Amino acid sequence: MPDQCTVHVLEYPYPDDFIAWYPYTKPDQMSGSDDWRRWLQRVIDGDVPGLRDRFVAARHTPTGQWVGVVWASVSETCPEIAHFGWFYTDPERQGVGVGGRIIETYLNTLAAEGVRVVMLPTQLSNERAIGMYYRRGWQLSITDPQGGVWMVREPRDFYGEYFTPDPARPVRAGEATAADYVALDYLLSRPAAPIRLLPLGLSGGRRFLSFCHDWDTGVHMVARQQGRPVAIAVGMPGGEGVQVDTFGLTARAMLTALRPIVEQAPNAWSLIAASDMRRREAVEAAGLRLQKTLTQTIAGAPMSLCRYGV
Ligand SMILES: CC(C)(COP(=O)(O)OP(=O)(O)OC[C@H]1O[C@@H](n2cnc3c(N)ncnc32)[C@H](O)[C@@H]1OP(=O)(O)O)[C@@H](O)C(=O)NCCC(=O)NCCS
Repeated sequence: MPDQCTVHVLEYPYPDDFIAWYPYTKPDQMSGSDDWRRWLQRVIDGDVPGLRDRFVAARHTPTGQWVGVVWASVSETCPEIAHFGWFYTDPERQGVGVGGRIIETYLNTLAAEGVRVVMLPTQLSNERAIGMYYRRGWQLSITDPQGGVWMVREPRDFYGEYFTPDPARPVRAGEATAADYVALDYLLSRPAAPIRLLPLGLSGGRRFLSFCHDWDTGVHMVARQQGRPVAIAVGMPGGEGVQVDTFGLTARAMLTALRPIVEQAPNAWSLIAASDMRRREAVEAAGLRLQKTLTQTIAGAPMSLCRYGV
């Protein structure tokens, strides 16, 4: 069967027969969240600025039918990193190598373009898909309590180097844009990111948090160095003020993203893990003061937290 297929890297505008077949935008064919369905429709309509979206799809030569596909996305501002998602082979064609050929074409295409990291979300229960990814170099990086997992295929030490800003260069804050999403998902794709504490569950375990998250509620700022996101900060109305939080690998990057939010929030407050000295440093440098320590049960375990306020 794979010998009877040709694999194509499709870009906007997509062929009409591909759009007619593409299953993930069709609620009657695929269950799942309307958030990502809306996002995929924007991709198909060529309406996502700052991202290079593609579908790698297999066509069955004897019948001319599309039979398998995966979505791929690379940001213009961080071309070393790619998203991979919504992998699918028609049920009657599964298990004979179509998916394997799609992945290999995808990886070869990206490698030729200089992509070094490929991230994907899946479910812990999807052993077959996880096995396929694992055998091709992906590792599990973060799991959420509902069984959602992130898998990342990356060079050793890449993450830390990528998100540690050069101390000699400026870091500047700006509002989050779609072009930041790939790097932000990668930044938050670590258990070390104590993201559970970020307001509204801006969590690295969610499926492509970048476009499932409600960016219109609250304020989001991204710290960037030379266009590359290095930290995110969030301000969310709640608890008689604005709950703020931030995540990045350095206090300087976090402070850069957080400061403009704290400056505009009349009554900013934050809950930070007591052991997270770098985030506490950033929150204190932004002008918040330690008010009290408390213990909360988070992910089934007690955690010591510091409450900060103005
Ligand atoms: C996941 C999916 C896209 C794979 O496509 P496919 O065309 O069936 O893939 P292939 O035939 O090339 O490969 C099947 C792989 O599963 C393995 N496999 C086959 N049957 C298996 C089984 N019962 N248990 C575990 N692994 C199995 C094969 O060994 C092969 O892995 P390998 O290439 O590393 O040897 C397809 O099964 C699918 O559409 N599933 C439903 C949607 C889905 O789960 N998408 C993934 C979301 S992350």
